[in-house]
Amino acid sequence: MRPPEDAELEPEPFVLGAWVGSLVSAPDGALASVADKLSVRDLSDSARVRATKGLLATALASVVDNALRAHATNASLRAVSLVVSSDPESVQITVEDSGVGMAPALAVRAGEPFFTTRDAGEGMGLGLYLARSTLARHGGGLELTSGPTGTTVVMRLPRVRD
Ligand SMILES: Nc1ncnc2c1ncn2[C@@H]1O[C@H](COP(=O)(O)OP(=O)(O)OP(=O)(O)O)[C@@H](O)[C@H]1O
Ligand SMILES: [Mg+2]
Repeated sequence: MRPPEDAELEPEPFVLGAWVGSLVSAPDGALASVADKLSVRDLSDSARVRATKGLLATALASVVDNALRAHATNASLRAVSLVVSSDPESVQITVEDSGVGMAPALAVRAGEPFFTTRDAGEGMGLGLYLARSTLARHGGGLELTSGPTGTTVVMRLPRVRD
């Protein structure tokens, strides 16, 4: 992933769905390198958020990285889906995989700083912790639901009125 440019470190209002689409489809987008592994279901939602794009892109790339790793053997099947949706108060990015999932004892620990099940050198155990911190800093949150058939992560931001 390319480093964020300075301009991306300031909060700004933008349409979340269109922006997520650009991360996938622009050649230098933060998700461009894994675009063929994603099933982009619906990004047509026109709701706006106010956020620091560089931080949000890092958080989303990290959640997507986890989802792809949950599909070690068949990630090419576009089994990780991305959807942006909204309600009157908030706008959500939902990242859903049908990978290995997490047992309940593991799911409660995922998100603790430095908690990882990856081999040494493969992960720091900071991805979810930092992603959740970024969403919280923006007044939103990150919720994770996991079971034997996969994992769903909802990244929520407050909606900005036009
Ligand atoms: N989508 C997922 N499916 C299954 N397990 C997951 C998923 N996302 C996270 N996990 C589990 O939660 C742990 C913590 O995830 P987190 O992203 O915080 O750290 P990491 O991926 O291990 O390392 P890092 O993100 O710092 O490279 C992972 O090691 C993995 O066991
Ligand atoms: Mg991770």
